[in-house]
Amino acid sequence: MGLDCRALRRDFPLLENRGIVYLDNAASTLKPSPVVEAMVSFTHDTYANVHRGVYELSLKASRLYEEAHEVVAGFIGAESWEEIVFTRNTSESIQLAAMLLYWNGYIGRGDEVVVTEADHHSNLLPWVRVAEKAGARLKLVPVNSRGIPEWRALASMISERTRVVAFGHASNVTGYINPVKSISKIAREHGAMVVVDGAQSVPHMPINVADLGVDFLAFSGHKMLGPTGIGVLYARRDLAEKLDPPLGAGGTVRRVRLKGGRVSIEWDSMPWKLESGTPPIIEAVGLMEAVRYLEKIGMENVRSHEASLTEKALTLLSGIEEVEILGPENAEERLGVVSFSIRGLNPDAAGYALSRMGIAVRTGLHCAHILHDRLGHPEGSIRASFYIYNCVEDVELLARAVEEVARKYAGKTAGPAG
Ligand SMILES: Cc1ncc(COP(=O)(O)O)c(C=O)c1O
Repeated sequence: MGLDCRALRRDFPLLENRGIVYLDNAASTLKPSPVVEAMVSFTHDTYANVHRGVYELSLKASRLYEEAHEVVAGFIGAESWEEIVFTRNTSESIQLAAMLLYWNGYIGRGDEVVVTEADHHSNLLPWVRVAEKAGARLKLVPVNSRGIPEWRALASMISERTRVVAFGHASNVTGYINPVKSISKIAREHGAMVVVDGAQSVPHMPINVADLGVDFLAFSGHKMLGPTGIGVLYARRDLAEKLDPPLGAGGTVRRVRLKGGRVSIEWDSMPWKLESGTPPIIEAVGLMEAVRYLEKIGMENVRSHEASLTEKALTLLSGIEEVEILGPENAEERLGVVSFSIRGLNPDAAGYALSRMGIAVRTGLHCAHILHDRLGHPEGSIRASFYIYNCVEDVELLARAVEEVARKYAGKTAGPAG
């Protein structure tokens, strides 16, 4: 059936209003009118705090908030809506997973945590911190010259002391899609937990957590047509049920009592025990609408549309002499992310020049400093990333603009003024 990017663009007034070529979707996506309208109408008609009142409005809002968990659970193939925890974003979701495991004594002195050199800081720094606190050892799966983790090394790195294998499903720099299922299998065989950063995969391809065999999966609403301020942590039910929450607060407990001078806490069930304080209610309504919007298009269609844009971008950009493309050569191995450099031109200077031509790309180190160092680009890269409302013309405009910038500025130390 495919995807009609031109028709979809009508739902994104910003594209029309600003007339830009928006290619920074790995950072955040634009919001379609139905998502904005759902949040506005909920705010005007139904808004109240959730799980805190028995008046009609609060009950309605609570029901919708629960429904948002159900819709998200269905989207990623979770067994139950109780496995869906709403957080602020991917970063907070991964930190929550790391704190949960540390807090509950799952990671201790002498244990090991495995991450990769390709990981975004959001999936590196929480594990660095937890390993430091616990006295555990952090091991990094090395990357090859294209920035692809050398997963063959995992067999010799993993041991009976490995408690966690945590990694990004798809790289936000190279777009490379890691073989989650086979990595999960190896981790499981060694009794290790699997934590997956799905920030770049969940918005762009069909996902089924049961099939992937992961224990935790983190992703952000704002990268999949939803609002900012809401993220998701999928937590496998039988595991999560056993874990005490690291963040106690209103909304996380069933009953608190003073017993013999001590405060005794009876935690609420999943997911409420992990959602501390007033949750992102309006944002949950927006995310639910975003998921429905994507489901209507079909995630297979999203994936294949982006694959064709990526292939086109790789073909056109690799034809420009000054351009060096990072990551796998084969479009099938990556999601809709193409990072590159223009020889002799600082990435930020290139970004400014492209912006003047109406093209929005991300430049810099993309929160993946180690990966850029490994790729021999410590100054960073230029990243174009695609979504459903990008059409082939956007890729052609990008390639033409990159060529012009390269010819005009590459090799001239000054570059364009910012
Ligand atoms: C792979 C990856 N992980 C984590 C994040 C962090 O997402 P957020 O800023 O929504 O927490 C990003 C954002 O760019 C990302 O690309």
